[in-house]
Amino acid sequence: MNQPMNQRGLFLTLEGPEGSGKSTQLRMLAQRLRAAGHDVLETAEPGGTPIGLQIRRVLLDAKNQELSPTAELLLMFAARAQNIDQWILPALAAGRVVVCDRFTDSTLVYQGAARGLGAEMVYDIDRIACRGLVPDLTLLIDVDIETGLARAHRRNQRTREVETRIDEQSLEFHKKVRDAYRHLADDEPKRVKLIDGNRPEAAVAADVWTAVEPLLAK
Ligand code: TMP
Repeated sequence: MNQPMNQRGLFLTLEGPEGSGKSTQLRMLAQRLRAAGHDVLETAEPGGTPIGLQIRRVLLDAKNQELSPTAELLLMFAARAQNIDQWILPALAAGRVVVCDRFTDSTLVYQGAARGLGAEMVYDIDRIACRGLVPDLTLLIDVDIETGLARAHRRNQRTREVETRIDEQSLEFHKKVRDAYRHLADDEPKRVKLIDGNRPEAAVAADVWTAVEPLLAK
C-alpha cells in the first residue's frame, strides 16, 4: 500500500456538530495564519477538490434519501482520497499548513457512531483512503444540539440550501454525533482539543489560536 509522502507541513482539522461555527473558525484561523506569514491551504470535506464537490452533491442532496449507509461511507472516503492525493499531500510535502473542515473524525462519528456502522469499518477504509495520514491537531468545536441545529436551520433558509440530507436527520442522530465527538476528545486528548462553541466567535477563535500556536513554533 502507498504510504503518505514525507510530511513537512502541518495538518490541522476542524470538527463539530451541525451549526458549531467551525467553518467560520476555519476562515478566521486561516487568516491569522497567513497574517503570521504561513502558506495555508484551506480545504473541506466532503468537497474540497472539484471532483470532491461533485461527490458532495450526491452525498448531501436532500433528494437522495435512498442512499445506503455503506454507500454514504464509501463516498465520504472517495471525496477524502481525492482531496488527499490532489491537494493535501502535495501541500504538506511543500511545507504548507493545511486546514481542513472535517476529516476522518467526522466519518467516525456520523457513519461509525450515528449511522451505526461501527468504528472498525471506518478505520478499515481509512487505511486504504488515508494511508496513515492523521491530523497533527484537531479542533473540536462543541455546541449544544439545540443551538447548533437552530443555527444550521437559519443558515439553510437564508441560503436556500439544498445540501441538507444529513443535517435533516433526527434529533437522536445529532445527539449520537455530539456524544461520539465528546468521547473522541476523551480518548485522544493530545490530538483532539475540545473548545466550547456556545460562546461569541472571538472567544472561540482565541481558544483555537491558543491550541494552534505551540505547533507553529516546532
Ligand atoms: P458541512 O455542513 O460541515 O459541510 O458537512 C456536511 C455534512 O456531511 C454534515 O452533515 C456532516 C456530514 N459528514 C459526514 O456525515 N461524514 C463525513 O465523513 C463528513 C466529512 C461529513
